[in-house]
Amino acid sequence: MATGADDRVICVIGAGYVGVVTAAGLAESGRRVHLVEVDARRRATVAAGRSPIHEPGLDELLAEVVADGRLTTAETMREGVAGAGIVIVAVGTPPTPGGEADLSQVRGAVDEAVRHAGPGTVIAIKSTVPPGTTRSLARSAGRADISFVMFPEFLREGAALHDMHHPSRVVVGGDDPQAVSRIAALFGAIDTSVVLCDSVSAELIKYGSNAFLATKISFINEMAQLCELTGADITKVADGMGLDPRIGRSFLSAGLGWGGSCFPKDVRALETSAGYHGQSFWLLKAAIEVNSQQRSRFVGKLRHGLGGSLEGRRVTVLGLAFKPFTDDLRQAPSLEVIRHLEDLGAEVTATDPVALSGAEAVLPRTRLVADPYEALAGADAAGLVTDWPEYRELDWARALASMRGRLVVDGRNWLDGEAIARQGGIYVCMGRAPVAEAPPATVVPSLPLG
Ligand code: UGA
Repeated sequence: MATGADDRVICVIGAGYVGVVTAAGLAESGRRVHLVEVDARRRATVAAGRSPIHEPGLDELLAEVVADGRLTTAETMREGVAGAGIVIVAVGTPPTPGGEADLSQVRGAVDEAVRHAGPGTVIAIKSTVPPGTTRSLARSAGRADISFVMFPEFLREGAALHDMHHPSRVVVGGDDPQAVSRIAALFGAIDTSVVLCDSVSAELIKYGSNAFLATKISFINEMAQLCELTGADITKVADGMGLDPRIGRSFLSAGLGWGGSCFPKDVRALETSAGYHGQSFWLLKAAIEVNSQQRSRFVGKLRHGLGGSLEGRRVTVLGLAFKPFTDDLRQAPSLEVIRHLEDLGAEVTATDPVALSGAEAVLPRTRLVADPYEALAGADAAGLVTDWPEYRELDWARALASMRGRLVVDGRNWLDGEAIARQGGIYVCMGRAPVAEAPPATVVPSLPLG
């Protein structure tokens, strides 16, 4: 397609995690970026050069690109799309109750963008969408003078700026080779592998990557159960397996399993999507089941360690964010664990270095305390849910001296169990034997196999 469109001007739609990081990165690389956001507060935060999400380094980068005018915010699509050769759609695709991706925000954004886009514009879908969506959006747009491509993102929360500067790969899929090249050219200066393909393959590369990683975690978690039953140590097993370069050690850390805004939603959406095409994706069904079982197993270890009942027991949960270096609570294992503990009668106190403010609304029964030592004082048991470095550095002599009980259950195999045991604690973790100076009277029960 002939284009008079200016690819130095880019419109990014949606100032969520993906949109704001993408917009900041493109502005940093010298483009002029208009970031369209309907939420006035979020828009004002970015316009003031601050990040609306907790992401290391993002505040500094936004301050720089907003101050020199490379990144501006816009309320309406008309302002945002004006003069842009490329429109990147980065709005949410939350799950519906049935597990599929809700595409209403994507469709709404594309409809509006198409109305204002000039000839030669490329609309790049960065939102994670089911196979076939990009083609269907192009068909519904009914404009032969603009092109659609799928342009998935692979950023990890908490490491987004690093991933943006050093992407593992750039994937661009579409039916118009010129449009595909224009999007790939955005990353021309970066030395990485580039995969150019059709849009359906690009959509499945995104879903397949997240689903595979989630399945890898569920696999090691199922192995962790077997380690408990056989007396093996899951950390050693994962280390030994991970040394095979075909397997690799990453995403083989056993524990409470996966959470966050991506894995739970994307695994279910892929499984649902396969169902529409008549396929039962058994591996994904099992991965989801194992992931949910990990939360119950963790609660079971606390209950068992406290003598079989949580009624009236004080439990302190260390970590609320779904993983360290983010304040994101979406689908965080902590929420499921805390609600379960509270339903079983426990009085829960929770702490987190950055995620406390968002927790009030979603955990109304929970006492939220910023200081971990204050949170642990008087507790019958501590349960580590998020592997924040701060918690590895805790002075357990001080913490245990202030606690009412001695039980520490580590849902991420993150703490130094020997050190905790030396201070008189009973250390229980996932897929490894408990550690205590005087061995605990009871052995943590395993859930039945199968
Ligand atoms: C994930 C992918 O890793 C990114 O590549 C992708 O771009 C992103 O989703 C997305 O689709 O937007 P993210 O959700 O930030 O990134 O989180 P991860 O670092 O992948 O961790 C996911 C969950 O798995 C966390 O709850 C983490 O605690 C858990 N996990 C991770 C384990 O339980 N064990 C492991 O070994 C690794």
